[in-house]
Amino acid sequence: MCGIVCGIARHDIVPDLLEGLRRLEYRGYDSAGIAVRLDDGRLHRVRALGKVMELARRLAAEPVTSHAGIGHTRWATHGAPSEANAHPHISRGELAVVHNGIIENHAALREAQRAAGFEFTSQTDTEVIGHQIRRHLDAGLDLFDAVRAAAAELHGAFAIGVLSGAEPDRLLAARRGSPLVVGVAADAVYLASDAAALVPFTQDMVFLQDGDVAEVGIGLLRIVDAHGQPVQRPLRRSSLSAAATERGAYRHYMQKEIFEQPQAIADTLDGRLGESRVLEAAFGTEAAAIFDRVRELRIVACGTSYHAGCVARYWFEALAGVPCQVEIASEFRYRDSVVPADALLVAISQSGETADTLEALREARRRGYAHTLAICNVPESSLTREADLKLMTHAGPEIGVASTKAFTTQLVSLMLLVLALGRRHRLDAATEASLVDELRRLPAAVQAVLALDDTIAALAPDFADKHHALFLGRGVHYPVALEGALKLKEISYIHAEAYAAGELKHGPLALVDADMPVVAVAPSDPLLEKLKSNMEEVRARGGRLLVFADAGAGFDDTDIALVEVPTDTIDHLVPVLFTVPLQLLAYHVALIRGTDVDQPRNLAKSVTVE
Ligand code: G6P
Repeated sequence: MCGIVCGIARHDIVPDLLEGLRRLEYRGYDSAGIAVRLDDGRLHRVRALGKVMELARRLAAEPVTSHAGIGHTRWATHGAPSEANAHPHISRGELAVVHNGIIENHAALREAQRAAGFEFTSQTDTEVIGHQIRRHLDAGLDLFDAVRAAAAELHGAFAIGVLSGAEPDRLLAARRGSPLVVGVAADAVYLASDAAALVPFTQDMVFLQDGDVAEVGIGLLRIVDAHGQPVQRPLRRSSLSAAATERGAYRHYMQKEIFEQPQAIADTLDGRLGESRVLEAAFGTEAAAIFDRVRELRIVACGTSYHAGCVARYWFEALAGVPCQVEIASEFRYRDSVVPADALLVAISQSGETADTLEALREARRRGYAHTLAICNVPESSLTREADLKLMTHAGPEIGVASTKAFTTQLVSLMLLVLALGRRHRLDAATEASLVDELRRLPAAVQAVLALDDTIAALAPDFADKHHALFLGRGVHYPVALEGALKLKEISYIHAEAYAAGELKHGPLALVDADMPVVAVAPSDPLLEKLKSNMEEVRARGGRLLVFADAGAGFDDTDIALVEVPTDTIDHLVPVLFTVPLQLLAYHVALIRGTDVDQPRNLAKSVTVE
């Protein structure tokens, strides 16, 4: 993780670095810093513990201007969040480096560099990069070759930006396993971890590929690939607009993103539904031929995206009749598992850069999975480039660290896959047609659920003083409960766990008392009566229930808090609707607790380290 933004411009680069860093804060916000080249060739560094706002304050107090600089916002891995560990790191006063990723052989490099007389001022793995480049410069290489030589000696994952006091016109970059994009403008050039950092300055982007080393300047872009061959990477026009990443009238990005869900779902469906069928060309030109051969599914993902996969498992087996397993990507990649014949490996990721998910995809290819599909929200992300097939969720930029609209658009995308595969297996045309109809109506159904906002805000105070909460669901609503608990713990810091309700009596019931609210996801489906029995077990132990149910569920609200969720859709899509009130609950509880909703402590949006 961490965010990098670097630039050379005919104008002062410092405001651009700050604006870019602000837009990258979702990648980490433990500290921020910049290093710029002064006119006399000296490097000047300003760093601050905490968010980019702190760095901006410091720069306002000690202003500096420059035409070339590199910046960084950090999510701490090696070394605590502190000013000393904040990037950029400078080697011998003349070479500044910003880094995203993890250098796995940093200890060995550090030892060799110490022996060679280099000094260290931080506990980071990053400092060795600058020193290693310096060693190659001392041995007579020019800056480009020195960066290439150093990059070749680094183990692990990295994207780096390098600024040299001796080189006024260029910045160096290298990437392996972490994203890096070059932004090209008439009077400036930029490097960043994400195109979203650069859209205020340019729409023209060149995405570096794994193994690339590049030097950039105004009118200069030289790239050498992993094999040392000069390469040209295509210039692409980003469709991101600067406004798409603005918060507008909303109090938080998360709130905005919750309320954007009807539109995000509509955008995800746009152009993918025929009259009564899913248009499978949406998955890529190869899709039809691949889908014909698929007999099984394996889904890998992390966090919220994993929960989307867990919901979809119920759909794949019940609706499509296709066997499906879902696994946390960090487990899958290291587990010796059997590769089923004719299996489609589906990797789900909002960012498309989550290290474990990306590596799980690569590992699956190495093990011989016949086909791979990425479901992803970021075009040009590593995941989408590496999978055979891709289906983009068109949720638009998601800034809040706690994922919301990415989740519901993932669910919708997975349903499209269920339909495309299902028609080759158990799904009949009439069921597909009715699901297609219901998908079209889904944005309006989600809109109706959002009207519960005030009701849920009124319930939140009962939660806000609690330390623990339990979420219960059954069947396809068990992963919805998992996602609800994750939302609550991420942004309110209340310890929340979800259980398949049938498991309640096998342990968690021991925790239930008046201080442990129990949230039940209770739509009227065939499992409702079973769930009601589980809820009685809670009630009998003095537990306090908050029940999300629909009109048909038949609860009376004498001694439970009841929220009636409008479920104007087919049963299979009800999980999408029940997700929304749980997001709102977490949001309102966090508001009362005064936490940092969009950037909760210790977390980051895009986890590009293992
Ligand atoms: C982080 C984020 C989560 C997200 C997970 C997976 O933990 O904070 O919101 O669900 O990564 O991210 P991905 O981009 O792969 O969906």
